[in-house]
Amino acid sequence: MGLYKLFSTNVEIQYKSCLLSKATLFTLITTLLTIILPFLIAHRSRGFWLRTHNFYEHPVIHYPYEYILVAETDDPSQPIVCSEAAVLNQEIFVGEENCVEIQAQEYDFNDDGKADALEFNFHLMIPQERTISSVIAMLALDFQLETVCPLHMQSLAFIQKSFTVPPSGLKYYGDIEFYQTVHLPCLRNIVDKKYNSSLMSYFRSSSENIVDFIMVNYFQRDSML
Ligand SMILES: *[C@@H]1O[C@H](CO)[C@@H](O)[C@H](O)[C@H]1NC(C)=O
Repeated sequence: MGLYKLFSTNVEIQYKSCLLSKATLFTLITTLLTIILPFLIAHRSRGFWLRTHNFYEHPVIHYPYEYILVAETDDPSQPIVCSEAAVLNQEIFVGEENCVEIQAQEYDFNDDGKADALEFNFHLMIPQERTISSVIAMLALDFQLETVCPLHMQSLAFIQKSFTVPPSGLKYYGDIEFYQTVHLPCLRNIVDKKYNSSLMSYFRSSSENIVDFIMVNYFQRDSML
């Protein structure tokens, strides 16, 4: 036999206590914790189930005084090579005496302790009978991230310019861009220094072109993960 609902009402029970009592304080604290705790946990864990995350940081860039400058002349067998790099230290180059002066300077415009601009000046003495047809400059850069994903690595800036008419000089202005090809491990308080070895100090066994040699090693570094 089915039952028929005749009437229903909610029973509300109210517990009361004066404003300044231990019970009120307890309720207040637990209420606040219920609201704040999830935020704290989410913040400390950098988000639950986080797969990708972007952040912006002005990196610390220093110039570690390693470079290679190759100036091709109209005689391809006689390039002018200037360098300050371990990979070349054992070798004597034809034309090395033509590298007269090298200056490097770091500028910090807003005084935040991080360099905002780097300036390099190379002065070459070109033999009378030669003209420069192209210039390749490879500059080592020491790159550091400090906040979210501590990272310290050696990187490379590459400048290449060919001339159709004999130049008297080259002025090159550029932004340094950081290409990231893989996710950073982002371990808290652990500096990632996997790539913190000089790019210009590989052991070179063959007599292959120095620029190609460094570039090949640089790009292999990415694929060696
Ligand atoms: C990274 O390498 C540079 C130069 O070799 C060195 O001064 C620095 O201490 C290294 N950084 C770390 C975190 O090991």
